[in-house]
Order: sequence, then structure tokens, then C-alpha cells
Amino acid sequence: MPELKKIILDPEDSGVPCVLPRAEHCISRNQIDEHALKVLYRLNRQGHMAYLVGGSVRDLLLGRTPKDFDVGTDATPNQVKTLFRNCFLVGRRFRLAHIRFRGNLLVEVATFRRNPDESELPENDDEHFHFVQNVFGDPREDAFRRDFTINALFYNIDDFSVIDHVGGLKDLEERTLRMIGDPLVRFEEDPVRMLRALEFSARLDFTIDDEIISAIDQRSHLLSSASSARLREEIMELFRHRVAGQVCEMAQLYGLLDQLFADIPFLPQTFELLKLIDQRTAEGKPIRESLALAGLVLPAFFERCPVERSQHINDALAVADKLLRPHCLTYSIAQGIRCEARDLLIGCFRLARGRGLKGESRFLRHPFTPQIFEFFALWCQIDHSLNDKFANWLGALASDAGEHTGERKSPRRRRRRPRRKAAMSS
Ligand code: CTP
Repeated sequence: MPELKKIILDPEDSGVPCVLPRAEHCISRNQIDEHALKVLYRLNRQGHMAYLVGGSVRDLLLGRTPKDFDVGTDATPNQVKTLFRNCFLVGRRFRLAHIRFRGNLLVEVATFRRNPDESELPENDDEHFHFVQNVFGDPREDAFRRDFTINALFYNIDDFSVIDHVGGLKDLEERTLRMIGDPLVRFEEDPVRMLRALEFSARLDFTIDDEIISAIDQRSHLLSSASSARLREEIMELFRHRVAGQVCEMAQLYGLLDQLFADIPFLPQTFELLKLIDQRTAEGKPIRESLALAGLVLPAFFERCPVERSQHINDALAVADKLLRPHCLTYSIAQGIRCEARDLLIGCFRLARGRGLKGESRFLRHPFTPQIFEFFALWCQIDHSLNDKFANWLGALASDAGEHTGERKSPRRRRRRPRRKAAMSS
């Protein structure tokens, strides 16, 4: 991390934020997406506060490339809408302004929010969560409602300073992940934060503060009560950020794994396979949910479905279904994704059985088969006993492809059925 010259210790005590002027931090406007800059400048010119918020400030201070640039402002969503013709208000939980630009580009603008007082909360439980998420506040309140100190830093377009209300600069420098407020309370409010703690620690290579670890230990049981849609999204974030293997290992250590994957038996090879999938994503290959799912399940699948040449594919299908269905039900994963994951498992089963069985040439020509080969190649790095069989299959795939691209056989002529004679009666 580029060195920060001035660190004010514990700004929480004074109620005054630590402000780093432009000369004392490394963020340059050249590093900020031009569309986000446009949005920041226009809000600012119209007299509103306009900050870069969240992960982008953290990443820029760490010398990393941010995934996206979110904007925080004191303008309400409706005020934002009047300022930008290309603005769309979205979100049920959060009322957000999306400013869309050509090329499918998007800048998300959120009005500063705060956690409401007990007395302000609606009595109706159904409205409770929605209400809590949507009470407008000032920048300091907005910082304090965020999860970790390093995620609550602001970059102010008005004077190019970095503003820290929560001690995030010090934690960035010490490479420590610290919760804003009492982790026990914050995990009770939102148990997904436990998983996010592991994710950020793995992504940034940060040490997790002891208070967080002790709170996870005490509150791990709450994770399974979190919204399954949000958990599913966070699980996919682990894969997108190439930390699925590492985070699952940590989750096992901290007692979160069973909460997260109650229906999937994890074996030591599962962590290895997930790490290989992460490596593949790091090489720039896209990660689909079906591949993530198949990766989570493959070691248990092979354990339950020993590969013998005589074993019928229907037995393998039954095992795959039994492993995939409960998890997909818990997380409302669509049938199409489940079937694609199942096809990856069954494809691996075929490859592990070896060549020379019925349906081989149809299998080799199927458009999905290259994806199965790629997945199986990862598994072969773990189970070396399959390497010879796999080499044999690769030869078959290459020669089959050659047959189709090289000297093409003359197309088979369809034999016409002899025309039926007209019915005698007509
Ligand atoms: N946030 C939070 N609590 C959550 C989710 C998000 O406080 N449960 C806040 C954090 O300030 C976070 C910001 O919203 O930085 C954006 O969240 P997200 O996009 O999930 O993470 P980023 O920090 O932006 O990281 P990245 O986009 O690189 O994944």
C-alpha cells in the first residue's frame, strides 16, 4: 500500500473525521472511471455532497483496481433523477439511482443513510427491514452503518480529500479487517457479514481482528437463518473473486461451513478442487454457477458413486441428483443450472469409466463435452490415477474433431422412403 503520511488515531473518540488532503494520499482522478467522475462533478456543481464510497476508495488506497465506482450523496434519489436524464431509480430494499451510460456502463448513486432509532421503527415486522435500509442520514451516519472500517472510507470530489470517520485508514495500513461497532451486534443484525469477513480477509490478505473471530465463534449458528438469496449471491462472489477454496477452508475452521452448505459433504479434495477452479478464474475464464456447483459436489459424487465399467449411468444420475437437489432447493437455484451441473458430474463419470462404452461418439460430438473435459482436467490434477484414461480421451476428442474439420466425409445420402400409394378407396 502506498504510504499514508498522516494517520489520526481513533477518530471515533472525537466525533471528527480524519481528513487526508490530496497531497497526503495516493488517489488520483486518472484512476477513477470517467463516468463516475462525470456523476460526481455534476452532483457537486449542483451544490450536493458527492463522494466515492465503499470498495473503490479502499481498493484505490491499496493500489488495486476497483471493480466498480459507487457514489454517495446527500441528494435524494428523486433529486438525482432530475439531474440526470439517463437515471433510473431501482431497488425494493434500497432506493438507488442508476445512471446508465453507453456500452452498458452504470454508476450507482446512493443517498447517505443511517440506522434509525428504536423509536422510529415501524411496528409491522414486514416493513421493518425495508424501513431500516431507507432512512436518509449524513455522511458520518452513512459510514457507521457500513460493515468493516476499510469499507467506510470516502473520497470527496469537492477537494479531492479522503475522509475517514471510523478508523479505516489505520486498519488499511495495519492490514486488519475490523468491524464498525460491536461484531456480536452487527452479526445479529446481518449474519451475512460473517461470510463477508472471511471473503475480504482472503481477497485482500488481511488479518481478521480477534473480536470478529470470537463473535463468529459465538454467532456462527445464525448464518443459516440469513436470506438464502443473499447467501447465494455471496457464495458466487467468492468464486468471482477467486477465493472460494480459501474461504471454504476458513469457514470450516470457524464453524460456518455446515451453515452454508448443510447439504453438501465436504471432503479434503473439495477444497483442492475449489482452489483449482479459483485458479482457472484467475486466468480470466468466466465462472458459471453450474461449474461452481459441480465443483462443490464432485468429490462427494465420486466417493458415493465408485466408478466401474459395469456401473450404469442411471446409478450415477441418481447419486448426482441426490447431492444437488437439496442444495438447489435451499438456495432456489434454477433447474437449468442444476441440470448443467449434473451434466458436468455425469460427464466426469463417463470419462472416469474409460473409453469403449456405448454412446461414446455421440458424447464426443456433443457441444457441451469440451466443458466436461476442462472440468475433468482439474479433477485429474487431484486424482492422478485417472491421467492415463484422460490422455486416451483427449486423443479420441482430437481425432474426432479432426474428422469433422479436416477431410470431411461426403455427406450421407438420406434414403427416401418409397412413396406410399394413394389409398385405393380415394
Ligand atoms: N456494505 C455493507 N454491508 C454489506 C454489504 C455492503 O456495509 N452487507 C457496504 C460496504 O461499505 C461496501 C459497499 O457497501 O464497501 C459495497 O458493497 P459490495 O459491492 O458488496 O463490496 P465492495 O466493498 O464494493 O467490494 P467489491 O465491489 O470489490 O466486491
